[in-house]
Amino acid sequence: MDSSEFERRRRELMAAMGEGGIAILPAAPERRRNRDVFHPYRQDSDFWYLTGFPEPEAVAAIIPGRAQGEYVLFCRERDPAHEVWDGEIVGQDRAVSDYGADDAFPIDDIDEILPGLIEGRGRVYCTLGSDAEFDAQLLAWINQVRSRARGGARSPGEFVALEHLLHEQRVVKSPAEIRQMRRAAEVSAAAHMHAMRTCRPGMYEYEMEAEYLAAFRRANGWPAYPSIVGGGANACVLHYIRNDARLRDGDLLLVDAGAELECYASDITRTYPVNGRFSAEQRAVYEVVLSAQQAAIEAVHPDNHWNRPHEAATRVLVDGMLSLGLLDGDRDGIIESGEYRRFFMHRTGHWLGLDVHDVGDYRIDGQWRQLEPGMVLTVEPGLYIPPGAEGVDERFQGIGVRIEDDVAVTADGADILTADVAKSIDDIEAVMAA
Ligand code: GLY
Ligand code: MN
Ligand code: MN
Repeated sequence: MDSSEFERRRRELMAAMGEGGIAILPAAPERRRNRDVFHPYRQDSDFWYLTGFPEPEAVAAIIPGRAQGEYVLFCRERDPAHEVWDGEIVGQDRAVSDYGADDAFPIDDIDEILPGLIEGRGRVYCTLGSDAEFDAQLLAWINQVRSRARGGARSPGEFVALEHLLHEQRVVKSPAEIRQMRRAAEVSAAAHMHAMRTCRPGMYEYEMEAEYLAAFRRANGWPAYPSIVGGGANACVLHYIRNDARLRDGDLLLVDAGAELECYASDITRTYPVNGRFSAEQRAVYEVVLSAQQAAIEAVHPDNHWNRPHEAATRVLVDGMLSLGLLDGDRDGIIESGEYRRFFMHRTGHWLGLDVHDVGDYRIDGQWRQLEPGMVLTVEPGLYIPPGAEGVDERFQGIGVRIEDDVAVTADGADILTADVAKSIDDIEAVMAA
């Protein structure tokens, strides 16, 4: 993604803020894993969205209408001794030349400079409450401005939640974002296809996980979230990430794994037979989930609101629960009472973007929000029949199926970004037999 995309985003945010405001955003801190070991660094999604700047220890100030420059970046200073260990630091010169800052200062000077940028601004846009250390710093800068009030300095009268503006912006993706998300989706789709061909009874779940991880890293990606690789009844544990059991002949394998590329996530689930052939019971459950997913994808359309795909999937799933004998009663009663949640306990999807569960409201003024072209969501119905499920035919116990695709809303419907992964029973069996 080139710097003009980030510039366009800052402009859009500034237009929404109006003059008289200043937005202040911190980079993500580095996080310690244990003793001298840190987690691989991942930039904060809001900070990345507006700057594309990759380093920790940085703060962006966005100041609409400021004559000397509307985008000021504080970042690490170049330091040859440090760079011997950790590689090149961007530094102030390249923050301006490569990252579009109007002005850049060493992060160590922020206490001297930032209060002066805040002074005279009526509104401070920030995301309070997610990083206590940064919140305390911000209040200290504000207090510095307040302490100068007797000398005539004007301190801000309002704190505004930046996320109201920024997350509304992020929920509708630009063409460049859709291209990036399609790349992430394609890498994940190829990983699933490769893994299906690799799967054999007797492998361990972590060996299958390794196939995905290798495919993501080969594309210079990372997993967008911990991969869920659950054989047999482990598929019924929604956030199963132990991934340490052996795969048994005759079981299904549920894999929920997606790559993140340049901070954009994909999120795919496929459920396939360990030995390459669905049993009659697995087939029956799978067909219900697949029909539910198709009904939900058909409901992804700008004429519909957010909840329509979920409603469509739920109707098909409940019909399936009735015909499989998992539940008794009538469809509408079961939906109304929520009884179906015994076997389908999550929602049909979520926004997808820089975060796998991406930002953006699902309701506006209490009403489900309308879908709009450029929004990207997952469609992921499932049916989970745990071992010992009361009143359920034993043949169905221990079967868990989820099918998940990433879908972009278009002017006339939906564009399935993850369409390259086999999904019908015939296609999956053909891929696994090859
Ligand atoms: N992989 C997380 C989710 O499907 O929501
Ligand atoms: Mn998923
Ligand atoms: Mn998902």
